[in-house]
Amino acid sequence: MPRAIPAIRYPARNAQVLLTNRPAGVPQPGDFTLAEADLPRLDAGQILVRNIYLSADPAQRGWASAEANYSAPVPLGTPMRALAVGQVMESHADGFAAGDFVYGFFGWQDYAAVAPAAVLHKITEDVPLDAAASLLGINGVTAYLALTLLGRPVAGDTLVVSTAAGSVGSFVGQIGASLGATTIGLTGDDDKVRRCIASYGYAHAINYKTANLDAALRDCAPKGVNVYYDNTGGTILDTILRQMAIAGRVVQCGTASVGSWLPAPTGPRNEREILTRRLVWSGFVIFDHMGAYALACADLAAMWQAGKITYDTDISHGIEAAPGAIAALYSGANTGKKLIQIT
Ligand SMILES: NC(=O)c1ccc[n+]([C@@H]2O[C@H](COP(=O)([O-])OP(=O)(O)OC[C@H]3O[C@@H](n4cnc5c(N)ncnc54)[C@H](OP(=O)(O)O)[C@@H]3O)[C@@H](O)[C@H]2O)c1
Repeated sequence: MPRAIPAIRYPARNAQVLLTNRPAGVPQPGDFTLAEADLPRLDAGQILVRNIYLSADPAQRGWASAEANYSAPVPLGTPMRALAVGQVMESHADGFAAGDFVYGFFGWQDYAAVAPAAVLHKITEDVPLDAAASLLGINGVTAYLALTLLGRPVAGDTLVVSTAAGSVGSFVGQIGASLGATTIGLTGDDDKVRRCIASYGYAHAINYKTANLDAALRDCAPKGVNVYYDNTGGTILDTILRQMAIAGRVVQCGTASVGSWLPAPTGPRNEREILTRRLVWSGFVIFDHMGAYALACADLAAMWQAGKITYDTDISHGIEAAPGAIAALYSGANTGKKLIQIT
């Protein structure tokens, strides 16, 4: 049973954030419209969820857009696709009962009637409820699985991580350090540099906006980079590829710095770096790994209970905060996992 659960109120109407304009690039507040609807009707096999924490994720850029992505775009005029933590109010589905806490695709709205397939995780761990949307959300589980399955750092390796002070990056730093890697975090703000070192397990941290990244990295990683956990792509990736050690691994987890997906941006050709350094470059999408999700949560919750991992959340209040939340993420304004508390 999770702890630190906010008081819940139950409005008579379903406040929703609809996607009403197809964004070109990062979704802006004007791409959304606040609306109200009747409470959803519960069909056979569904559960009714009262959302508590709405999640804002960089992935929503892809879900909202018609650019190249791994999923169909959100239809215009419907609630924005979003992850959320909520409580089951009523269940017509096996395995769920009123009172259960769940994390899944419930959308930017007060209430959702969904099939069990929309639930990524039933929250039974003894952690605060906001941890269910961060540490045990796709951020923590992605960090854990992508690093251990694809990056596979071992003691003595040098691990570089971009968006290091963000939600995913903060967990990659801590897990990498616990595996014995020398961790180097890249972030775009001096205060975040300090947090990387003080809280997120980084031995070194570099402000990629103000430092000469190439030179700073050579100082911190004189023997080259064994694992690069990449959340940005773009020129940061181009720079690091030229400092990878032989047989290094690149985990492509995000592309936060790539402004345009279609047409694809041009840049340096990197094939010779891959070939001559014998690199393995792997893409990761968390939704391919749902079979491992609950086990990863159990491990992450145990680490938190043992004081071996920490998490930070950046919580806004009221559903009106949702439309601007994705753009704020891409501006780097967030200080931890971006959530909107709506109870
Ligand atoms: N593949 C998957 O299954 C999966 C799952 C979850 C998340 N992700 C990816 O993981 C990454 C981090 O996600 P998160 O939820 O933890 O978000 P986050 O790191 O908390 O927030 C996004 C961060 O991206 C950085 N950023 C934004 N624009 C940038 C740019 N142009 N160049 C460099 N950095 C930029 C900013 O940090 P700075 O201030 O440090 O620049 C910002 O704080 C994202 O790329 C996301 O798509 C992937």
